[in-house]
Amino acid sequence: MLQYTLDNFIVIPHPPLTTFATAILEASGVPQPIAALVAESLVSANLRGVDSHGVQLLIWYSGQIRAGNVAVAEAGKVVSENGACLVYDGHNGMGQWISNICCDHAIRIARDSGIGMVVARNSTHFGACAWWAQKMAGAGFIGIAMCNATALVAPWQGREKMLGTNPICLAVPGPQTFLLDMATTTVALNKIYKAVLSGEKTIPAGWAMDEHGNPTTDPQAALAGLPMPLGGYKGTGLAVMVEILCAVLSGGAMLTDVGGIRFTGKEMRASHMFLAIDVTRFMPMDEFVARMEWLRDTLKSAGPAAGFEEVLVAGDPEWRAEQIRRRDGIPVARGIWEELGKLAQSLNVTVPPIQ
Ligand SMILES: NC(=O)c1ccc[n+]([C@@H]2O[C@H](COP(=O)([O-])OP(=O)(O)OC[C@H]3O[C@@H](n4cnc5c(N)ncnc54)[C@H](O)[C@@H]3O)[C@@H](O)[C@H]2O)c1
Repeated sequence: MLQYTLDNFIVIPHPPLTTFATAILEASGVPQPIAALVAESLVSANLRGVDSHGVQLLIWYSGQIRAGNVAVAEAGKVVSENGACLVYDGHNGMGQWISNICCDHAIRIARDSGIGMVVARNSTHFGACAWWAQKMAGAGFIGIAMCNATALVAPWQGREKMLGTNPICLAVPGPQTFLLDMATTTVALNKIYKAVLSGEKTIPAGWAMDEHGNPTTDPQAALAGLPMPLGGYKGTGLAVMVEILCAVLSGGAMLTDVGGIRFTGKEMRASHMFLAIDVTRFMPMDEFVARMEWLRDTLKSAGPAAGFEEVLVAGDPEWRAEQIRRRDGIPVARGIWEELGKLAQSLNVTVPPIQ
C-alpha cells in the first residue's frame, strides 16, 4: 500500500476541507443545508480514515449532478407508516438528505415503539453507512444501516455483475465499544478507485478478480473486473440479505436495475434500511454500557496471533485515525486533490491553501 509522504499526499485540516466540499456542492446547485450535510458526512469519513467514502466522492457526485441524474433539492416523502415500520420514497434526492430524514423517522418511531424500521427506495448514494448508524446511536439507540449499490459484484461462483458492494453497519450508544461498518465485498469498491487515483501499483490479494474471474492485485485490472464477495458464498449471502431488507422490502430497484454514481444518464434508485432499537426497552442503559465494555475489553484481552500486537474490535482503526486526523489534519492523495482542484476551477470555487 502507498505510504503517506508529502510527495504523494497533501494535508488539510477538516474545517477548511468541509468548507471546500460544501462550496463545491453549492456551486453545483445543491441547496446550502443539503450541501453542508453531504460535505460534513464525507469529511467525517475522511476523519475516520475511510477515505474511499470521503471527499473523493465529490468527483462522481458532481458528474451525476451535472448530468441531471440527481434531484438535488428533493426531500422525498413518506409512502406509508404502519406501527414501527415506515416506507419512504427518496424521489431521487441526495442520498444523505434522504437518509437524514429517514434516520429521524426511525428514531422518532423507536422512541414510541421500542423499534423503528425505515426502508427507503429511489434514493441515491448515502456515503459511508457509519454516519447513519452513528446518528441513531448518538440519539441513544442501537443503529443499523444498510444499502444496496451498483451491481458490480458477481454472485459467488459467477462472473456476471449482479450485486452491489451492499454495506452493513451497526453502531451502539455509549462509549466507543463497537462500530462495525463494512462492505459485503472484501473491501468497498471505492478503495480500489482510491488506489488508482493515488497511483498505487498493487492492491492486496483477495480484493478483486479481473474481468475473466482470475484473482488480481493490479488496481486497473481490478477496476475492470469484479470485487470479491466477502468470504466467498457467505459474502454473497449477506449482500442478498441487504438487497432483501433494503430493496425488496421498500419496493425499490433490485440488482442490475440500480444505477450508480459513475453512471450518467440513469437515476441511481438506491434503497436503504435504517433500524433504530431502544436499548432501554430491554435493560437500563447503564447495564447495557457496562456489558458492552466488558464484551469489548474481554475480546481485546485475547492474546495476539503471530504477527499481531493486539486484538482490535470493529471501530478501533477508525477511532484511532480520527484522533490523529482531528489533530494533524487529513491526508488527501495528490491525484485526488488535483481532480478536486479541476472540479473547483470548473465551478469557480477557490481551492483552500494546503500544507
Ligand atoms: N454507500 C455505498 O454504496 C457503500 C458501498 C460499500 C461500502 N460502503 C462503505 O465503505 C466503507 C469501507 O468499507 P470496507 O468494508 O472496505 O471497510 P474495512 O474493511 O476497512 O472495515 C470494515 C470493518 O472492519 C473493522 N476492522 C478493520 N480492521 C479490523 C481489525 N484488525 N480487527 C477488527 N475489526 C477491524 C473496521 O472497524 C470496520 O468496522 C464503509 O464505510 C462502508 O459503509 C458504502
